[in-house]
Amino acid sequence: MTDHLTLTLNGRRQAVDVSRDTPLLWVLRDALGLTGTKFGCGIGACGACTVHIDGAPVRSCSLPVEAVGKGKVTTIEGLDPAGNHPIQAAWRDLNVPQCGYCQSGMIMAAAALLAENPHPTEADIRENITNICRCGTYHRIVAGIILASTRKQG
Ligand code: FES
Ligand code: FES
Repeated sequence: MTDHLTLTLNGRRQAVDVSRDTPLLWVLRDALGLTGTKFGCGIGACGACTVHIDGAPVRSCSLPVEAVGKGKVTTIEGLDPAGNHPIQAAWRDLNVPQCGYCQSGMIMAAAALLAENPHPTEADIRENITNICRCGTYHRIVAGIILASTRKQG
């Protein structure tokens, strides 16, 4: 049995018919076709599924869609429709990704950190970004966030 729910997703109201306990990740990927958000572990450990709800990073594999309520959901597709968020630009400039699988979650986590702390130190970044990258791109992720923070300072 499905329920008729309405989400605020990437700045628009979006109706969806799913069961209320469906994890947000599967609503995004399967019901709405937004496949930029990835499935990694399914248990809230890896961060591949990170999206924002009201600007805060959330692991969407572990959040029933009904828990979103009136929260504003942003996925990698909606972070910057042109792909030019400062984090995305820094990622390109420093060739941060390797295989890329973890990277949309990393970018969402990094963008949320930068919104909350525009000038994070390396220690801040390592403490706050707990997403897992099996390719080991962590040093470029740190460099990318610092580069983006420098640009944001102008
Ligand atoms: S897939 Fe959600 S934290 Fe790993
Ligand atoms: S770039 Fe391959 S898992 Fe992170």
